[in-house]
Amino acid sequence: MPDATIEKIVLIGAGNVGTHLALRFKAQGLVPLQVFSRKITKARKLGKAIGTAYCNQLESIIPDASIYILAIHDGAIGELAQKLSQYIHEKALVVHTSGATPSTVIKKHFKNYGVFYPLQTFSINRKANFNEIPICIDAPRVALRKKLEQLGKILGPKVQRVSDKERAILHVAAVFVNNFTNQFYTIADTILTKENITFELLKPLIQETARKIEKDKPEDMQTGPAIRGDQATIARHLEYLEKFPEYKKLYALVSKSIIKEHS
Ligand SMILES: NC(=O)c1ccc[n+]([C@@H]2O[C@H](COP(=O)([O-])OP(=O)(O)OC[C@H]3O[C@@H](n4cnc5c(N)ncnc54)[C@H](OP(=O)(O)O)[C@@H]3O)[C@@H](O)[C@H]2O)c1
Repeated sequence: MPDATIEKIVLIGAGNVGTHLALRFKAQGLVPLQVFSRKITKARKLGKAIGTAYCNQLESIIPDASIYILAIHDGAIGELAQKLSQYIHEKALVVHTSGATPSTVIKKHFKNYGVFYPLQTFSINRKANFNEIPICIDAPRVALRKKLEQLGKILGPKVQRVSDKERAILHVAAVFVNNFTNQFYTIADTILTKENITFELLKPLIQETARKIEKDKPEDMQTGPAIRGDQATIARHLEYLEKFPEYKKLYALVSKSIIKEHS
């Protein structure tokens, strides 16, 4: 049974993260008191999915919950915290779920503020495995951090304190491993589709590349023409990429980076 000081949560945002958090909290026996989304259709859909109250007006937000989780667009967190401060009690703990946004955007409006950042890529229609997902928490005081740790442990076992500074750096690293890697998948798919070759052929390679770094350091697992210093192959690849000038630039840049890293 959840601790009485964390059992009253309100979830603000019904996007990818808000939806996953809501579903997981419910599955773990802690149904948020209320969900908020600017669009009533989204608020209703999520509220009904977890069997709780929903609203799309800040005036209707439950004012005396213990924790408010802002799972909304990074650029809107500060403004929403400011507006929220007119409707909820001043002692509420208000946190956001962003990797990139400093906690200080909430500090301006609430003295009990913090971060509750699940370090994973979430899409609304994909399952999330919270047993594996690090929940990065932080708050300015021990008692608040304890609350967030308890709240995180309801989602899954991997709860860790990560400072604003560390989180900002982690987020840069996350962009490399997730967003950039996925952009490279997209480029490969575009090239293969244009040449009528199936992307399916690359999937075992993609999966093994990810599996390899479970035990070994990424730099020790690098293979390919750049690390081998195979200039003839690189030249052939660059010649082929003449028809994709943007991809050619990226290929040359990343090859140079691999060579430099290993020289
Ligand atoms: N997706 C991920 O992989 C991921 C992972 C970890 C952390 N995060 C962080 O979690 C937060 C939410 O990300 P997300 O992927 O869930 O985003 P999302 O799917 O795009 O959803 C964003 C939510 O923000 C709401 N919103 C946007 N502007 C708003 C405003 N001015 N006032 C109130 N609500 C507003 C949207 O409401 P409407 O529907 O009404 O427009 C929507 O519910 C972000 O800080 C993000 O950096 C994301």
